[in-house]
Amino acid sequence: MKKVFVVNGPNLNMLGRREPGIYGKTTLRETLKALKRYARSKGVRVRCFQSNHEGRLVDRIQPLSRKGYAGLIINPGALTHYSYALRDAIKASGVRSVEVHLSDIENREEFRKVSVTRDVCIAQIKGLGPDGYLRALDALIGASS
Ligand code: DQA
Repeated sequence: MKKVFVVNGPNLNMLGRREPGIYGKTTLRETLKALKRYARSKGVRVRCFQSNHEGRLVDRIQPLSRKGYAGLIINPGALTHYSYALRDAIKASGVRSVEVHLSDIENREEFRKVSVTRDVCIAQIKGLGPDGYLRALDALIGASS
């Protein structure tokens, strides 16, 4: 069975309580539960990790290929907009990656329009709320079959 790693960056542990007008009322736990259920129906096993610390994210992303993962779904949170370390880790991981944003980062503040991680990913999915994670899985499955 294919394994996919799912990474959520800073402040995404606060989903459901954090700016619900922008990010919705669904918690990260509920979001990932729905993703796991969907993945299972597609024959994919999902492992999830959230951290508010850039270095911890880098540590978990680097060895994905060696650990047998077929892909990465990542919502880097605000690190999207400036973390070259995260960008380099995604590239170094050697796995296909899809970037997800709950909100539509194109239609918010100027600084959110820049993603330094976008071009080391095969796709960027934004503005679909929790369903974006499901569509990211579809993109990964489509890309590898
Ligand atoms: C986000 C968008 C980022 O700009 C923001 O810093 C987040 C969440 C999203 O999912 O819409 O933390 O990645």
